[in-house]
Amino acid sequence: MAVCIWSFVFVWISLMIRLGKGQSFEPYETSHVALIGWTQRSGAIKFDCAGSYLGKNIILTGARCLERDGALADVVRLGTAMGSPMDFHVHNVTVHYRYQAEYYYHNMAIIILKEDPQAVSSRFKPACIYSHAPPIPEGRVHLMGRDAEGSYLKTELDLVDSDKCHEYYSPTKKLKYGALLVCCMCARNAEIAKCASELGSPMQIILEKNGKRVPFLVGQKTIGRSCGTKVPGIYTRLSSDGHLPWIVTIARMDFYNHDACMEKY
Ligand SMILES: *[C@@H]1O[C@H](CO)[C@@H](O)[C@H](O)[C@H]1NC(C)=O
Repeated sequence: MAVCIWSFVFVWISLMIRLGKGQSFEPYETSHVALIGWTQRSGAIKFDCAGSYLGKNIILTGARCLERDGALADVVRLGTAMGSPMDFHVHNVTVHYRYQAEYYYHNMAIIILKEDPQAVSSRFKPACIYSHAPPIPEGRVHLMGRDAEGSYLKTELDLVDSDKCHEYYSPTKKLKYGALLVCCMCARNAEIAKCASELGSPMQIILEKNGKRVPFLVGQKTIGRSCGTKVPGIYTRLSSDGHLPWIVTIARMDFYNHDACMEKY
């Protein structure tokens, strides 16, 4: 009986540590994680979306992350989750050629910055992109990003099969084909109450080679909640034929060769 109580206490304490505000990360987990911001009239910057640094001066984010109240995003902040934020200026943006504001599909955009973050500080490292078709070997992925209170969280999610996910998302006006395989990935963790809520928050896995650990982006948040409910959240699937070639073209970088990308670390 005593053993049982102690193991319960232990589980409870580890849960508290995991769920507490003070989640800490390894640098490779968050050195690419970006916030997309709008400079207000007062001069303050409002951050309301997430993105990922892909190297050079390139940021991947959602097409729904470019405009707020008629103003275009003008600042990208890196390093917040590492406790050392730095701002970069938007040079220009390219929206996925098939994105239409009426739908949630192809919700992707690439921001080109005026500065090259890696040249400014070696603490900013790009993410690679997981270019292979599903399944993801581990079956579980991490969602990185800020919750509604602005704390960074890493949340382990289970991927949900497209057929299963489709049952939760009967076609609607904005999702006329539901959650079909090619566009999207679905994931959830019903046991955890809080996780990244911002659009564009990266879903990733960590691949390891020769002792190097490198984040590989699998998707980015498009709609729905990813935690606290059985209804899976929907993510833009980065490896899909309609998405990765576009990223490669606009970013002018090769994401198909995983080993070459890991070499950059
Ligand atoms: C963005 O800027 C880059 C570098 O100056 C340029 O090559 C590219 O064509 C521009 N893209 C758009 C959409 O203006």
